[in-house]
Amino acid sequence: MNRKRPLLVRLVNALRLVATDHHFRNVLWLRLVRPKGIFQPSNSTRPNRYPKIFGFVQSQLGADSEIRILSFGCSTGEEVFSLRRYFPRAAIKGIDINSANIAICRKRLRDANDPRISFAAAASTADEPEDFYDAIFCMAVLRHGQLALPGTNRCDHLLRFEDFAAAVKDFSRCLKPGGLLVIRHSNFRLHDAPAGVEFETLLRLQSAEKTPLFGPDNRRLEGERYPDSVFRKLPA
Ligand SMILES: C[S@@+](CC[C@H](N)C(=O)[O-])C[C@H]1O[C@@H](n2cnc3c(N)ncnc32)[C@H](O)[C@@H]1O
Repeated sequence: MNRKRPLLVRLVNALRLVATDHHFRNVLWLRLVRPKGIFQPSNSTRPNRYPKIFGFVQSQLGADSEIRILSFGCSTGEEVFSLRRYFPRAAIKGIDINSANIAICRKRLRDANDPRISFAAAASTADEPEDFYDAIFCMAVLRHGQLALPGTNRCDHLLRFEDFAAAVKDFSRCLKPGGLLVIRHSNFRLHDAPAGVEFETLLRLQSAEKTPLFGPDNRRLEGERYPDSVFRKLPA
């Protein structure tokens, strides 16, 4: 049975949200304007969204270590505050292209009063120091939900492989040798990017979610799966 609400109801609902919900307006703006560097405009997230991965990274880096963690595309902060529970002594920074998300993160931070958490609005890691982070989490960012629509054979009207490759190259610059890069729900494979040779895979996880993959030519890779999720930066 088609449970979709009638078009007019959906339209009225959308107009109501545009008029009343600052947050909805902001994501809609990102979808329409597509600012330079944007990947996934949707800010869906939830607390402790990746318990297997967070637990694995904790087992690799140690729960009590005073490490530095970056959450790239942190949305409204759930990922950062979840990571805090796995890494009580870490310095954790969250960055997101959407300044409305960062405003929510900062409000939460005022309530949490945690001096070792920080947030910044940014579209890339270009302002982050070199060889600095022990772990970078990039979860559900290097993708676009509309690429899962049937009949989508190319991605470059929404995302370009070269932008993905540039993003992961800069993640590598910011990671210490031996640091961990965590990429989940990406439309591209790390090992297709030139920077991929700088990493080895530590954890592979099958996923029920259908995130189609696209190659360096921006064409769909039919029938391919890429469970590789946690990578270690090899020594130089
Ligand atoms: C689907 S949410 C993922 C949130 C969280 N990482 C998670 O997995 O629950 C994607 C987020 O990536 C952000 N984003 C998209 N492109 C970005 C970019 N170039 N730089 C920083 N953040 C970006 C969006 O604003 C959005 O908040």
